[in-house]
Amino acid sequence: MTKFERIDALGELRANVAVPFNQARAMPRNVYTSQEFLEVEIDKIFSKEWLCAGRASSLSKPGDYLTMEIAGYPIVVLRDAEKNLRAMSNVCLHRMSTLLQGSGNTRAIVCPYHAWTYNLDGTMRAAPGMTLNEAFCKHDYKLPAFRCEEWLGWIMVSIDKDVPPASEKLADLGRLVGHYGMENYVESFRETLRWNTNWKVLAENFMESYHVPVCHRNTIGSQVDLAEVECPSGTPTFNYHCALKSDEQYLALAHPNNTRLTGEERRKTYIITVYPGLFISLSPGYFWYLSLYPRAPGEVEVTYGGGLAPEFLEDPDSEKHFAALKVLIDDVNAEDKGCTEKVYRGLVGGLTQPGHLSHLERPNFEFANYILSKCDA
Ligand code: FES
Ligand SMILES: [Fe+2]
Repeated sequence: MTKFERIDALGELRANVAVPFNQARAMPRNVYTSQEFLEVEIDKIFSKEWLCAGRASSLSKPGDYLTMEIAGYPIVVLRDAEKNLRAMSNVCLHRMSTLLQGSGNTRAIVCPYHAWTYNLDGTMRAAPGMTLNEAFCKHDYKLPAFRCEEWLGWIMVSIDKDVPPASEKLADLGRLVGHYGMENYVESFRETLRWNTNWKVLAENFMESYHVPVCHRNTIGSQVDLAEVECPSGTPTFNYHCALKSDEQYLALAHPNNTRLTGEERRKTYIITVYPGLFISLSPGYFWYLSLYPRAPGEVEVTYGGGLAPEFLEDPDSEKHFAALKVLIDDVNAEDKGCTEKVYRGLVGGLTQPGHLSHLERPNFEFANYILSKCDA
């Protein structure tokens, strides 16, 4: 992909969103397939925004950690001895080996190469065999920190030291769904997946329910009445739409002990996209989410997790309902994987420009505007 084509991709996106929503088309294909455009996105979006590392409840004990990578930086996110959440460079300060892998619990961070050892706050605990280097002082060494905040139970991490607090950027979303008490929902599963599609195809799939009756005809397709789907306007930091669940969906409805929600909200699911890469399906009784990071134009890494609202955690029937629900969400995700990978194959080989958007794809148009606003800045 040449520079000329990259400039073209941005220009095509500019033209794409320069029309009113009721005349809009899906984003042009170069925006999805260009390696150079992805590099712009990493630089201007993923290096600047808050990204989700998962749920704070999954790092509940001192020493619980997980690892991630943003814009090439290996990062460890952990709960320190004082129970603070921290995000730090996951690279040894000796000869730069990466430190921890995957997730788990540890009392200290021990480098797998020569065993330089760091405390959970990033300060150095010990470095064997260093006494004869007169210039070495362990107090000079501390793993660099990245921004890390807990917001409504989500661990948010950013490598941009100047990004405004997540709670401030997402204050409108906090007001919109605050009464669901999402901060008290507890994660019970977390998996890492790779899909062979562009990250924006996955994102756009999540933010519209237009595909549900067709792509999901073998699972939840008949449960969603598109006439009942609301697609209100979003904001510069998130978009959302809502669906009303039927009475058969036990966990989707508010538990009798849930006194936070009233009326229609007791069966309302919010389907929320927090830009750029956190997607939350929030029901009165449970939640599930995807948090993504692009690895290549046609490859995206996805953290997939979910769990129950607090009232259902205490309900003895919940376990069997949730086990059945997990099977269903897995099947739904497999269908989404199939549909979004088909889209990417079509984008790579497509000869025509993408078609017009349905009124049910308002969030997609807002997302296209978001991408342009960041990449064109
Ligand atoms: S690279 Fe970590 S101890 Fe040597
Ligand atoms: Fe779907």
